[in-house]
Amino acid sequence: MARVREPPAHAVADLSLAGDGLARIDWADGQMPVLREIRARLARERPLEGVRVAICLHVTAETANLVRTLREGGAEVALCAANPLSTQDDVAAALVADFGARVYAVRGETVEQFAEHVAALVTSDPAVTVDDGADLVTTIHAARPEHAARMLGGTEETTAGLLRVRGLEADGRLRCPILAVNEAQSERAFNDRYGTGQSTLDGILRATNLLLAGRTIVVLGYGWTGRGVAQRARGAGASVIVCEIDPLRALEARMEGYDVMPALAAAERGDLFITVTGSRDVLTTEHFERMKDGAMLANAGHFDLEIDVAALEALAGGEQRDVLPLVREFRIGDRRLHLLAHGRVVNLAAAQGHPAEVMDVSFANQALCVEYLVSAAGRLPPHVLPVPDGIDREVARLKLEALGVRIDVPTAAQREYLGAWRGGEPGAADFG
Ligand SMILES: NC(=O)c1ccc[n+]([C@@H]2O[C@H](COP(=O)([O-])OP(=O)(O)OC[C@H]3O[C@@H](n4cnc5c(N)ncnc54)[C@H](O)[C@@H]3O)[C@@H](O)[C@H]2O)c1
Repeated sequence: MARVREPPAHAVADLSLAGDGLARIDWADGQMPVLREIRARLARERPLEGVRVAICLHVTAETANLVRTLREGGAEVALCAANPLSTQDDVAAALVADFGARVYAVRGETVEQFAEHVAALVTSDPAVTVDDGADLVTTIHAARPEHAARMLGGTEETTAGLLRVRGLEADGRLRCPILAVNEAQSERAFNDRYGTGQSTLDGILRATNLLLAGRTIVVLGYGWTGRGVAQRARGAGASVIVCEIDPLRALEARMEGYDVMPALAAAERGDLFITVTGSRDVLTTEHFERMKDGAMLANAGHFDLEIDVAALEALAGGEQRDVLPLVREFRIGDRRLHLLAHGRVVNLAAAQGHPAEVMDVSFANQALCVEYLVSAAGRLPPHVLPVPDGIDREVARLKLEALGVRIDVPTAAQREYLGAWRGGEPGAADFG
């Protein structure tokens, strides 16, 4: 890869790290066949020629491959971090030195630097934004609403970001279309179910080296992510109990063969508890008081509020210590409870988050959504919009192709039958 002669404007930790970063980016690229396929097409067709795209995502090797893809489609890309702690400095350096991107991201940057970096992107006059948490698009709306109204639109990667953008919309202040990438079907399946399902257990295993087979694992929350965690735990040989507050989800869990019961009842039975509800105080004093000696507690929800750590500390008094780097033991009378990764999101705190193969699907959606916003310029209303079904299906099709999986194509007669409103065969029961 030829080095870019004039590095673009940037704020990265150390450009000399670029070699390591490039190796890391290439390794991730090897696990991202869908994005590679899209990149090859965009490089041929150049649909993003001259379009300014501002991206606020975790600055990782996977994100670098999205940046690379958009640049090969002709876009001018500027990037800042969606979280001050997730930046891979070597990747940031390689993006500047090898891929000519404007990058403003340093691992461990202060809150002030973080804000400056977002501001650098806000003033870069983007036509399209790509967000993970909506920092970029909400800052543009607050500081430069007239620019927001000129934008082709943006995309959003997370639930938390969509909540903020929907808040803007509810206030009547959203000025451009935002595509809810987080809610695409392909994203839900891959990111939440398979990505979080696997990486949550990965984090727990790295922190503890536990044998899962034969244990009773309690999964609190049976949403998109909880389903994945429960499925993987059962696959590893554990008995799984699900706790829910939604009767539909609880019923689904029961019909899947899991034990379903209130958290207070599960508290007495579990060896390992995993919260993944998006709510708060899901495990608190009354649960801790019932748990068995040696029980372990982990959280895979976004915020570290699901396990009431303050209540745990209060119960234990001073009787607590780190028994492993990410395992804290709390003594409550003659019982010991173990909290993993301080109650923070365990797949990121104790492992590496989602595998590149999962981000392949997310970022394939992102790349196609950016292309769509450009091609639909001026035609989309300033609302939060679903990812077009065609994009979702194209991502799934490309993923199947990468996996070497083929599926059937309906015949003309089947297509006609499926599209007919009457249904049935001529002469069969006709309820019309
Ligand atoms: N760790 C990761 O990588 C990762 C990835 C995706 C989502 N998340 C986070 O995981 C959380 C859940 O996300 P999701 O997409 O599965 O949401 P979801 O809304 O699909 O599911 C959450 C489920 O929890 C249930 N619930 C709420 N309060 C409960 C309680 N007190 N007890 C038991 N069940 C309860 C809800 O009824 C719902 O079925 C969110 O915080 C989300 O941000 C984490």
